[in-house]
Amino acid sequence: METIKPELLRDCAQKASSFAHSPFSNYPVGAALQTEDGAIYTGCNIESSSYGLTVCAERNAIASAVVNGHKKFRALAVYSMNGATPCGACRQVIWDICGDIPVYVFDKSGRKEVYRSGDLLPNPFDNTKLEKKNNQ
Ligand code: THU
Repeated sequence: METIKPELLRDCAQKASSFAHSPFSNYPVGAALQTEDGAIYTGCNIESSSYGLTVCAERNAIASAVVNGHKKFRALAVYSMNGATPCGACRQVIWDICGDIPVYVFDKSGRKEVYRSGDLLPNPFDNTKLEKKNNQ
């Protein structure tokens, strides 16, 4: 299956951002993750009064897809008012769970940037290091 049109993923991410729980930052974010078989799972940021417990839109989209049984992914879109790129924690989790996929970043004007998740996290720590830990 071909990667879905980025604009369709953007629409899903934008809709997800409308459900954000972001009373502390007033910075709603939405993410839409396309699975290998073409399904789309979305997430929004959910903030906590204990600020550090906030979970970003990207990680919530990934969790939603994983809990529904998906293991392979084609593309991720992120929507915010001014084009947020994924934070460091999300870059790690995107790499761990999705591998090297395109990450489309949209702002409210519809402007798009595209990155590879592998470029967003150079020299990553990941499971390949853990697999080697017993034979070194
Ligand atoms: N946030 C995301 O959900 N994704 C990003 O890519 C950047 C930041 C959220 C976390 C927090 O709720 C708000 O945006 C401000 O940092």
